[in-house]
Parts: sequence; C-alpha cells; structure tokens
Amino acid sequence: MLRLPLLAAASLASYCAGAVLDPLRFPSAQSINIWQLRAKSLQADAALSARDTSFPVSTFTQPLDHFHGTTNATFGQRYWVSTRHQKPGTGAPVIVLDGGESSGVLRLPLMDTGIVDILTKATGGLGVVLEHRYYGDSVGVQNFTTDNLRWLNNEQALEDSANFMRNVKLSGIDEDLTAPNTPWIYYGGSYAGARSAHMKVLYPDIVFGAIASSEYFDVIRTYADPTCSANLDWVTEVRRPESIVNNLDRAHKALFNLSGLASDQDFVSVLQIPLGAWQDKNWDPAVGDTAFDDFCAALNGNMTDLADVEQDVRLPDGLTVNAALPNYAQYIIDVTSNAWNYVASCTATLEECFGTSDDSRYQVYDISQTWRLWMFQVCTQWGYFTTGPPSPKTPAIISRLLDLDYLHKVCVQAYPPGQFFSIPPLPNVTPVNVLGNFAIAADRLAIIDGEQDPWRPDTPHSQYYAKPRADTVTRPFKLIPGERALSPLRFEIEPEIQALCIMTLG
Ligand SMILES: *[C@@H]1O[C@H](CO)[C@@H](O)[C@H](O)[C@H]1NC(C)=O
Ligand SMILES: *[C@@H]1O[C@H](CO)[C@@H](O)[C@H](O)[C@H]1NC(C)=O
Ligand SMILES: *[C@@H]1O[C@H](CO)[C@@H](O)[C@H](O)[C@H]1NC(C)=O
Ligand SMILES: *[C@@H]1O[C@H](CO)[C@@H](O)[C@H](O)[C@H]1NC(C)=O
Repeated sequence: MLRLPLLAAASLASYCAGAVLDPLRFPSAQSINIWQLRAKSLQADAALSARDTSFPVSTFTQPLDHFHGTTNATFGQRYWVSTRHQKPGTGAPVIVLDGGESSGVLRLPLMDTGIVDILTKATGGLGVVLEHRYYGDSVGVQNFTTDNLRWLNNEQALEDSANFMRNVKLSGIDEDLTAPNTPWIYYGGSYAGARSAHMKVLYPDIVFGAIASSEYFDVIRTYADPTCSANLDWVTEVRRPESIVNNLDRAHKALFNLSGLASDQDFVSVLQIPLGAWQDKNWDPAVGDTAFDDFCAALNGNMTDLADVEQDVRLPDGLTVNAALPNYAQYIIDVTSNAWNYVASCTATLEECFGTSDDSRYQVYDISQTWRLWMFQVCTQWGYFTTGPPSPKTPAIISRLLDLDYLHKVCVQAYPPGQFFSIPPLPNVTPVNVLGNFAIAADRLAIIDGEQDPWRPDTPHSQYYAKPRADTVTRPFKLIPGERALSPLRFEIEPEIQALCIMTLG
C-alpha cells in the first residue's frame, strides 16, 4: 500500500477553470441530449483552450489495468509542469493538481494564475497538472463501450496517481522528485477533491455521496436572491395551484414552445437546465459566470421585491398563470439571451432534441462521445443524481417528476452489458459507509468547502449529514463563507492555503 508524505487539500466545492459550462452537471439522459445539441461549441471551447502552450506537456506511461492482468495495454497519461517558482535542491514540494473529470488542458489556468501558481510561489515548489485516465488525451482504449470503460474506476485512477508520484522522471528536471523522498501536495476540487481525500486516507474504495442528492437544489433555493427564489417557488412548487408542475397540459407547454414533447418528465427536465448555472457563480464577475444572475433577472422581470411575486397574469389565450411563468418560458425559448437556452437551437423535431426514450441515441461509442466518461463514473460508483425532493413537504424548485428512476434510466440505455463488464443495477456507493464518509479525516488533510456550494450537502461540511468538527492545524477544516467559495481554487483562499502549507510543511 502506498505511503506518501502527502498533504492533500480536498476542496469538495465545485470549481470553474474558465467559464466552460458543463452540460453533464445534472447527470441524466436530458443532459446528454443537451451535450449533443451543444457538441460543436463545446469542441470549439476545448480547441481554444488547447492552444495554451505556456506549459510544456509530457506523458507518463501507465498500465491500463494495475491490478488484475486483464490487459497488457498501456496509455500515456498527460501532465504539464511549471518550474516558474521552483527552487531546485531545497526539498520544496511538488504541487500536483488532479485534473478530475475533464481534459487537463482546462486546468492549465490554475497553474498560471490560480492555486498551483500560488502554492508553488509560497513554497518554491514545482507545479504539475495531472490528467485523469480516459479524459483529454489520456485515453488507452479505441472506443467507449461498456467493456472498454471497465478500467475507468476509482481504484485504477487513484493507483495512476500513486504510480506517477512514486516513479515519474519529470521531463527537463534532473533532480529526483519522486515520493516519498519529496513531499507532494495533492490538490483537487469537486470530484478531484474527493480523490485528494482518498489519496490521503489510503482508502481508495471509499466514496463520498449518496444516490439521491436532492439537496443540491435546496442550497440554491436557500441562497439565491429572495425574489428569484420566491418566483421559482411560485412557478414550480406543487403547493401552488397555478405552478407549471400542476399544469402539464399542451397549452402550458406551448408557452415554452415545447407542446410537441410527449413526456412530462422530459419537459420538466428541460426547465431544470438554467439552474445549473448556479455552480459557476462567484463574487467576482471576472472569474465567475453571470448566467444564473441573468436567469434571475429574466425570471423576475419587473418584480423587484417579494410583495410583487404572488401576482397572476391573464394571457391573451385565456390562461391565468403566475406572473413569472411567461418570463421563465421566454427565457427557455430565447437562445440569444444566454447559453442555457436550447429550445430555439433545436433544428430537428422536439422529440429528437429533448426526448429521452430512444435508446439508440445513447448507444454511440466512439471516443468523441466524451459524455460517456463522467456518466459512466456516476452510473457505476458515484451516483450523483440530482432528484427533486420526494416528499411534498420539502419545498422544491424543480419538479418531483425528476426522480431517481428517470435520472438513472440512461445508465441502462447507454451502457448495455458487455462481454466482460456490466454496470451495477444502481451505483455502488457503499451506502453503509455513507456516515463514515462524511466523517472522512486524516492528519494533513485539509478539507475546504464553500458555504453556498450546491454540492456541499455531499461533503464533510454537509448541513444535513455531517457532524460539526474542529478546525485544527493538523486537520484544517474550512468553510468559505458566501459565494466566494464557488470557485475556491482560483484566488480567494490564498492567505489561508498559504499559511496552511507553510505550517504543515515547515
Ligand atoms: C500479458 O503479457 C504476458 C507476458 O508476455 C502474457 O503472458 C499475458 O498472457 C499477457 N496478458 C494478456 C491479457 O494479454
Ligand atoms: C470497440 O473496440 C473494441 C476493441 O477495443 C472492438 O473489438 C469493438 O468492436 C469496438 N466496438 C465498437 C462498437 O466500436
Ligand atoms: C409588471 O408589468 C405588468 C405588465 O406591464 C404589470 O401588469 C404589473 O403590474 C407590473 N408589476 C410590477 C411589480 O411593476
Ligand atoms: C416555436 O416553434 C415553432 C415550430 O416548432 C417555430 O416555428 C417558432 O419559431 C418557435 N418560436 C421560437 C420563439 O423559437
């Protein structure tokens, strides 16, 4: 078993490395439809990022299977090195940023102006961005069939990092900087933050999270602008007779230009999409994305305070609806106002764009279908499904029709059993360990979360499941207040993290 003198900083909060909107934010069949609709512009984003050549790229050869001898195939794991602040021969640490579930290219800004730059500057260390297996160009298979994805799991990916840290001969560096002789600081956010914690506590099989993470939207409901939150409540809440979820007829769907969509679940899953922009917010508009604020402004229209919210309007066709509903509908239709609207960008039939019952559209296996990667991890080990709250007593800003069956069905559609591997009936998140997972801790493991992060309920800072604990020098436990921590890997926690590393290493 690996034993590394490792300081891991596990920021379970989400981070945005550039404003790359992630259609798989709410894993479901609908999110794949949106991915397919937006594939061209997503590829353009990636091509743009790939032009960043300020840090040289290298590869480290990894076995595709570390454990079971099922294949002798290898792949080149990409990594990028920054020697900008390195003081050779001083025993300074290597700061490695885990690329998580995306191309490592998208993390390079963190090495230029973000956390890796900050930490290497503070320590005289070397910076590394390490790409995750199967993502970006660290791909060792010919296609993404169920069988070929069977080496995409937590255990294999953690062993990649350990193997890298123990054995890498960093290109252009004469010094031996391998672990355990050199201290390594392992940093990650969101999924990669959980990986950092796993690396540190040496329990690669423990996973955070629970299957039905309905609290995601409760965080938004609690912290959004009060007028916007109240409008969302009036428009979508089952307690309100005129809300859209109580009126899923053709006339109401027509307001959204979606009357051609047969399934009510498919319809409400399109309405959920703008809420994904919450995760990209930040106190500093230069860093965060304003799409959620734009959405709220559109929804609120001319309503400026809570007293305005409860009004109804009578539409020309005779429908009486809550005043915010036509605003919501217009926002969903009108693609010109922002990036989260899709109805007007649909050039095929509505069923072809937003229907989710045709299995064949999810059975495309070539390696351009990168949505298959994170979705596979969700379906097999992570289970991050963002359902509506099952109980009518819990207020909701998304429809309760978005239940686990609906969100999970794409796992069955997209990953039919292979010859060597079948996905589990439900993600194997070891539910008996869930409470232990929220208590995850180790010396020199810093756990940093954002107060308003929608994923906070899945972290050791969970408002719902985690017990309070002390913030100590050996076990730092920080909750960054307000919106700031929605992208904590950029700038905001600089003084705290610097102090932390210097204390812990020094
Ligand atoms: C891997 O290589 C070894 C040695 O050449 C061989 O014995 C073994 O059968 C190979 N395994 C697979 C799965 O091809
Ligand atoms: C996927 O790749 C494997 C080789 O790894 C090949 O045998 C198989 O036919 C391919 N399947 C598809 C659907 O492309
Ligand atoms: C918003 O505009 C509508 C239509 O012009 C009007 O009926 C309504 O009273 C206005 N609401 C507020 C709060 O100003
Ligand atoms: C609504 O849909 C119809 C037919 O699908 C289309 O002609 C019309 O332009 C759409 N309206 C908007 C605002 O996109």
